[in-house]
Amino acid sequence: MNATSLLRDDHKRFKELLRKYEKLSDEEVEQKEDIFAMLKAESTTTRPSKRRSSTRRRARSRWPGPGRSSRRPSRSTPSWRTLLEELSELEAGDVEFEAKMKVLKENVEHHAHEEEMEVFPLFRKLPHERQDEVSERLRARKFELSEGDWDDGA
Ligand SMILES: [Fe+2]
Repeated sequence: MNATSLLRDDHKRFKELLRKYEKLSDEEVEQKEDIFAMLKAESTTTRPSKRRSSTRRRARSRWPGPGRSSRRPSRSTPSWRTLLEELSELEAGDVEFEAKMKVLKENVEHHAHEEEMEVFPLFRKLPHERQDEVSERLRARKFELSEGDWDDGA
């Protein structure tokens, strides 16, 4: 599976969870909490690395990778990662939580659209060896993050 397929799958899972959330009634608070927990779990396997080698920094200047897009979001709109952190401090079902979930859904849809329409075409222009290299690094990173979650839970 190449990098664009991996990222497209991430987007699909996120959007699907957000659609399910949107369909829940005000009374279905437990289901809302479950979906939010799933969104957070999904986000941990798409988190960009804090430790970046110079190779990774060089690569990122040409390839945004998971969770990054070619343009910086405007200052007035928090990133979906920031929103997830803010939501973690609130109670599912609260007015503020619901409002932030709506912003999160719009944010994720915008991110997915932008990445798929602007970044994926750039990936397809890369030489095949470079595409394989980027895809392999993304798979390794996702594996590394999922292993990290396992360790955290132990
Ligand atoms: Fe993405």
